[in-house]
Order: sequence, then structure tokens, then C-alpha cells
Amino acid sequence: MKIQLPKGTFDILPYGTEELWRLSDLWQFVEALARRTCAEYDYREIRTPIYERTELFDRGVGETSDIVTKEMFTFEDRAGRLISLRPEGTASVVRSLVEENLAAANPVHKFFYIGPMFRYERPQSGRYRQHHQFGVEAFGVAGPEQDAEVIDLLLQVYKRLGLKNLKVHVNTVGDAESREEYRAALISYLRPHFKDLSADSQARFEKNPLRILDSKDPKDKEIVQGSPSILNHLTPAAKEHFQRLCHLLDLIQIPYEVDDKIVRGLDYYTKTVFEVLTEDLGAQNTIGAGGRYDGLVKQFGGPDLPGVGFATGLERVLQVMMAQKLQIPSSARPLVYFIPLGEEAKEKVFSLVSACRHNHIPADLELHAKKVPAAIQNAIRLEAKYCCILGSDEIQSGRAKLKELATREEKEVSIDHLIATLKGHHAPHPVVS
Ligand code: HAM
Repeated sequence: MKIQLPKGTFDILPYGTEELWRLSDLWQFVEALARRTCAEYDYREIRTPIYERTELFDRGVGETSDIVTKEMFTFEDRAGRLISLRPEGTASVVRSLVEENLAAANPVHKFFYIGPMFRYERPQSGRYRQHHQFGVEAFGVAGPEQDAEVIDLLLQVYKRLGLKNLKVHVNTVGDAESREEYRAALISYLRPHFKDLSADSQARFEKNPLRILDSKDPKDKEIVQGSPSILNHLTPAAKEHFQRLCHLLDLIQIPYEVDDKIVRGLDYYTKTVFEVLTEDLGAQNTIGAGGRYDGLVKQFGGPDLPGVGFATGLERVLQVMMAQKLQIPSSARPLVYFIPLGEEAKEKVFSLVSACRHNHIPADLELHAKKVPAAIQNAIRLEAKYCCILGSDEIQSGRAKLKELATREEKEVSIDHLIATLKGHHAPHPVVS
């Protein structure tokens, strides 16, 4: 019996799929570009475990969030400890910052991460149970320059990938005092509509009414249309922060829209929240999102350090790239594909292919096909540039033919000088900016 992969997961393959976004060359390209861009913005990589103690996410992401209440993969380990696969990256990075005492020497830290996240959601296009995020977290700077920097970094990655038609929506959820006041205003607006709200929203009415603004239920959406705006309930400090952020985005020419209905699905946000939207993904139209979370480090027992970051789903990035028909440079394929004729030639070819590789020349050899035409087909399928057929005649004469597969042109070369000749034909893989 064939065993299938778990629902909501997928394989990333070198070839063999029509879903082009699952091709590993594309993933490597996007990841390399994200890493390079982070280096230029002075963000360093952090890698945290894929699983953590469940309480990290309960306390960090929030006990009323959908992610924690409905979507976590949680299990007991053999010693009875409650463990969860990480549904997101921010809580783990904050835990690590505190646990490793990184802030003792210096309060400012800028990290990035790339890796899988797990959410038990209803799978559909653009929404998976294992998805991958590229994210950043910047600690120690309370001013809106840091918010603007992370938004700029995210958009720069998208721009370098060639993504078009993205919309940036920004909002503020204020500081604690603004939210307290806004919460009261929202509750008094929603109270007369209580019986018409969805069951989920009714449950949130007392505990976390702001989350109702984020409801996908059509009736809730209608009710929320007329709700008061958080922007009219900000303390002077929260208002000033948001206005400065908007000014800074103008300054670096980032177009954006203020959308006072964005609250985001995680409890840790304070002040700035933002989302980047696309029309090329269907229902899952958020390609990246983030915000500020000034109380989180302290809440986890660390110093009172502010923080701000984002994460972008790599599946969604790649799906938008494919929808927009963006090209990436092709990866290094074999420069030469050796085809041995007979046992004696096999040994010679084996040492030649190994010498090529030791000299940084991508090369491969045929060990499977019994007939030359089938071997040439393999060379073409593997996108080799040349093939070199070697039999006892070639070995005796010390001369072999290099055939360029695209043009079918052949040239004779000395086997002893083959490496030097190939080196002349091998341009290293181009670095893409
Ligand atoms: P999030 O909005 O929950 O934020 O997720 C960030 C991004 O991950 C989304 O915009 C989306 O592109 C992608 N994503 C989320 N869930 C799925 C899924 N089931 N399938 C495919 N893609 C998905 C966070 O996770 C925050 N930690 C972001 C952040 C970092 N805020 C501050 N720092």
C-alpha cells in the first residue's frame, strides 16, 4: 500500500511537478535572495527549534488567538511535557533572546529566520498545515524608524524578486492605554449587534473584542463596517508614533494605505501593524505581515525591550511569482555528461568525472542506460551543456569528442587536457542582484 503525505503538507522537488512553485531551485533562489538582502540591512540569522513548550505560544501568541485555540499541533512527549510544533517564529525568537541573555551586552538585535511553521488549518490553495516563513525580528529600538526599516526590508525582498501589484496596509493598535479606551468604545458599539454576531465573535466579545474586526464571517464584516476607528482613540504618544511612521514611509517612497480594520491574529501586537496584500492568490491574499510587540520581551522575563518584525509565507511568495510569470536564473546544471562505452571506458569516465568535480566543474556520468541514444536523452533531460562519449578507441587515441547538445556541434579535444578545456567553458553560476 502506498503511504500518502499528511494532509496540508507538500514535497519540494527538483523536478517532476507541474506546480512550479514546488521546485526546489525556486526555493533556493528566494531563500538566497532573502539572506543576501538581510545581510545588507544588517540582520543576522537565528535558528530556533521547530518545537517548543506549549506554554510559550499560549503566553506569547495569546490564549484567545485562533492559532493557539484551534490550530496548534500539540502533544505530550514521553515524559508528559506538553510540546507544540511552532505555529510562528516570533515567540521562539523572544524566548531565545531572553534565555541566551543576548540583551545583557547590547539592547539592539536584528535577526532573521527561514523555516517551517505548523498550523492545523483547513488546507486550501495558499494555506497549508506546514508552511514556511521568512521573517525578521528587530529588538531594542522604540522609535518608528525601526518599523519603517522592517517594512522597507520586506518590500525590498519582494521588489528584488520582481513581484508586482502589491499593496501595503498599515494601522496602529495603539499602546495599552489606547486599546483600553478603544475596547470600551468598541464594546458599546457592538453590544446592540451581539445577537447577530457569529458564535466565534460572541465568544470574543468580552475577552478580546478587537479580534472581531478581523472576522471573516460576512455578517460580522457588515456589522464591523460601522464600528468606531482605533485612530480616534489613540493616546498622544501612540498617535505621534503612527504619524511618524507614515511620514518615514513617505520619505523613502513606500506607497501604503491606512486600514484601521487591521488588528492581526496574534495577541502580542502594540502600535504598528501591517499587511502586504496581493490580488494574485485568491482567498489567501496576505503575502506578508507583521508589527510591533513592545511588551513581549518583558513578559517572557527579559528586560523591557521593544520589538518589531514581520513574516512572509514562502509558498505564497512563490505562488505569486508563478502567477506573475517571473523568471529566475537557471541553476548550475552539468557542464558535461560522460557516456562510457564498455567496462574499460567506465573506469576512465569515473576518474574523469571525479576530476571535473574536484575542479569545480559540474559533471555527471551515465551508469544506467545500456544504449547511447537513451544516454543522450538523459543528458538532455538533465540539461547538460555537453556530452562526451568515451569508448576504447577514444581512450587509445587520447582524443574525445565534446558534443554541444543544443547545437549538436562537435569538437575534438585531448583527454589529458579535458579539464583545462572545460574550465574555459565554465562560467560560474551568475550571482543575481
Ligand atoms: P502571520 O500573519 O500569522 O504572522 O503569518 C505571516 C505570514 O505567513 C502570512 O502573511 C502568510 O503569508 C504566511 N502564512 C501564515 N499561515 C499560513 C498557512 N497556513 N499557509 C501558508 N502560509 C501561511 C506571524 O506569524 C507573525 N509571527 C509575524 C511577525 C513577525 N510579527 C512580528 N514579527
